[in-house]
Amino acid sequence: MTGDPFGLRSLDIEALRAKHGAKWQACPARFSAWVADMDFPVAPAITDALREVIDQNAFGYPDWGGPYALSPAAELFGRRMADRYGWEIRPDRVRDMIDVLQGVRATVLHLSEPGDGVVLHMPAYHPFLDTIDQMDRRLVPVVRRDGAFDYDELELELARSQASVWILCNPHNPLGHVFERAELERVAELAERFDLTVISDEIHADLTMPGYVHVPFESLGPEVSARAVTLNSASKPFNLAGLRWAVMHTGSDRMQAVFDAMPGHYLGAPNLLAVTATVAAWTQGDEWLAAVIDVLDENRHALQHLLRTHLPGVVYSPPEATYLAWLDCRPLGFDRDPSDVFADRGVVLSPGPQFGPQGEGHVRLNIATSPVVLEAIIVAMAG
Ligand SMILES: Cc1ncc(COP(=O)(O)O)c(C=O)c1O
Repeated sequence: MTGDPFGLRSLDIEALRAKHGAKWQACPARFSAWVADMDFPVAPAITDALREVIDQNAFGYPDWGGPYALSPAAELFGRRMADRYGWEIRPDRVRDMIDVLQGVRATVLHLSEPGDGVVLHMPAYHPFLDTIDQMDRRLVPVVRRDGAFDYDELELELARSQASVWILCNPHNPLGHVFERAELERVAELAERFDLTVISDEIHADLTMPGYVHVPFESLGPEVSARAVTLNSASKPFNLAGLRWAVMHTGSDRMQAVFDAMPGHYLGAPNLLAVTATVAAWTQGDEWLAAVIDVLDENRHALQHLLRTHLPGVVYSPPEATYLAWLDCRPLGFDRDPSDVFADRGVVLSPGPQFGPQGEGHVRLNIATSPVVLEAIIVAMAG
C-alpha cells in the first residue's frame, strides 16, 4: 500500500495529548505509551457505521431477533474465524460478552474452587494475576528459561499440586509471543493429562505480524476444544476498547452448562454501538487493519535501531504479534524501577513488575503510534 490513506503515519502529538481517555489523560506526560490502546484513528467504515446510528438517533433496544438472541457481531464470529484461521466453530456455542475479562473471570469462578491452581505463562497480563488473587486461586507459573517456556518444569509442578484452569494468552501480552502449533499441542496434552480447562484469550490474534501464523487453540481438534473456551473481540485490533464487546466460544460442555443454568441477562446484554462498530470492523475494516499492521511491523523493527542508538543495552526482541514491546532495562543499571526513571523523563510506560516478579527491571512500551512519535518517545526515554 502506498501513501497514508488512513492517517496512521501523520499523527499530531498535540491532538493526541488533547485526546480523551485513559491513555493520554490518566497519567498526563509528554508521551504516553502504557495502556493497550492505539493512537491511530479507527477505520473510516467504523466511524461511518457509528455515525449512521447517531444520525438516526436510534439508541433504543436493538432488533436482533428477541431479547436473548445473538448480536450480529457474534453471528459473524464463525465466518471470521473460518476465513482468517480455518477454524470451524460450533455456531450453537457462541455468546456475546461485555468484555474479554468477563469471560475469563466467569470461567475461572465457575470451573475452579478457591485454592485451586491456575496456570499462566509468566510474565502475565496483570488482570489475570488480579483474577487469581481476588478469587483466592493459586498461581501456577510457566516460567521462561533462555527465551522459551519450560513445560517440563510445569509438568512436575502439576504432578505435585493439581490445578484446574489454564489461562492461555495467545498471542501473549506482554511478550508478544505467538504460540506455534507444536507448543499449543504441548499445552493441550498437559491440559488433558492434568484435567485442566483452557481459557484461550485470543484478543490480539488479528494483530499477528507478517511471518507468523495465529492458530486458534480450539482449532487443534474436537478433544482439545471440548476442554476449552475461547475469547475474542475486535477491540484490540480495531482500537475499540471503550465500546465494550467481546465474544466467547464454548467448546467445554461444563462451561456451556454453567451458562445454560444462568438466568437470562444475568451477564447483561451487548452494547448497540459496540456491536455496530464490530460488524463494520469485521466486514469492512481489513484494509485498514492491513495498513495498521504495516506501521506496527515497521515500528517493531525500527525500535531495534532506535534502542541501539539512544538506549544501548536494553534487551528487546520484536513482538511476533500486537503492539506491546517488552524491554529488559536491567543492563541500564537504574537503582529504581525503570518506569519511574522514564516517567521522570516524560514518558509513561507500564511497569514490568505489574506483570509479576519476572517483570522486575522491565517495562512494557506501546508502539501503536506513528513512527515519528515512536522515535520521539525513545529519544525522550533516553533523557
Ligand atoms: C490479553 C488481554 N486480554 C484482555 C484484555 C482486555 O479486554 P477487555 O477490555 O475486553 O476485557 C486485554 C487488554 O489489553 C488484553 O491484553
